[in-house]
Amino acid sequence: MTDSESDSSAGHRRRARYRGTHPRRFEEKYKELAPDRYPELVAHVKQRGMTPAGQHVPILVEEVLAALMPAPGERGVDATLGYGGHTQHLLERLRPAGQLLALDADRIELPKTEARLRQAGVGADELIVKRTNFAGLRSILDELEWSDGVDFVFVDLGVSSMQIDDPARGFTFQCDGPLDMRMNPSRGLSAAEWLSRASISDLARVLAENADEPFAEFLARALDRQRGRLGTTGALAQAIRGALPERLGEEEIDRSVRRVFQALRIEVNDEFGVLELLLRALPECLRSGGRAAFLSFHSGEDRRVKKAFESGRKSGLYSSGNDEVVRASLAEQNANPRSRSAKLRWVRKA
Ligand SMILES: C[S@@+](CC[C@H](N)C(=O)[O-])C[C@H]1O[C@@H](n2cnc3c(N)ncnc32)[C@H](O)[C@@H]1O
Repeated sequence: MTDSESDSSAGHRRRARYRGTHPRRFEEKYKELAPDRYPELVAHVKQRGMTPAGQHVPILVEEVLAALMPAPGERGVDATLGYGGHTQHLLERLRPAGQLLALDADRIELPKTEARLRQAGVGADELIVKRTNFAGLRSILDELEWSDGVDFVFVDLGVSSMQIDDPARGFTFQCDGPLDMRMNPSRGLSAAEWLSRASISDLARVLAENADEPFAEFLARALDRQRGRLGTTGALAQAIRGALPERLGEEEIDRSVRRVFQALRIEVNDEFGVLELLLRALPECLRSGGRAAFLSFHSGEDRRVKKAFESGRKSGLYSSGNDEVVRASLAEQNANPRSRSAKLRWVRKA
């Protein structure tokens, strides 16, 4: 290790050293976090079916492109920029003369993604990036004077690998960190604040409605007894594990921990509320013949997308769409485990 490697740009702070041969903690994975300097290591991590720290592998790319059919000169929206994987593929199809508007609510990851794309040569004329919630898509199109709408809208719901992997964001129970979970940490309540204010019945409702948690009532009462002591992801995970009977076994208990984290994330980001707003505005955002494709990752999201698309097709708003949901191939599921729960639905505006 050289001195320059060990210095951080923010005032010569020493980089976290890891014990053993393989770094486990996010902040120790400095090689994966610098893919330009360590391309072989990053390729090796990908080959093992893992996503390198600080990156996100785009899911169902070919299937998304087949549904959206982006063509040169068209105008489209990627409502969830993330690491920019889908955006890059969409841009390739839009050249020459096409334009893509990319949105993301995340003020931490968005500037990094935009800088990476610009460095790769993506121009301001072909890609417009805005940090905002996709719920307001219709008014964003008006601001851009794209009032007649766009040829396609793509939405890849949920959180990115970068958000999950970074313990400072509080999305994961795998590492300890502040219990935050906000996609935009400067707005609204953190998950810890929400938990400290929620009534037992609010908590039980959120666990049941947002994640189908079978022990919702029981866990709501157990977490209420820990009120004020759930400021970190570790404390919350421990409280859930400590409350559930041991006879359930480690795997079942882990599933509950995962569901409680999912339920809280959905609540603090109002994920179902903003998804419904977008689905309602979608027909007014598309030109005639315009396409929309949504990737969802759990039943609460997919139910809403399916219902909106089915009712739009019944009323004649949409002329076509997929009857059978599109899933990742086994090869993709093996290469990228995060694709296992992905469901793709698309529609075309009449
Ligand atoms: C699954 S990731 C997208 C990954 C991306 N397709 C790629 O290839 O890298 C979802 C992204 O959507 C963002 N997001 C989630 N809900 C949002 C919302 N309501 N408005 C804007 N961005 C949102 C998250 O911050 C996250 O970066």
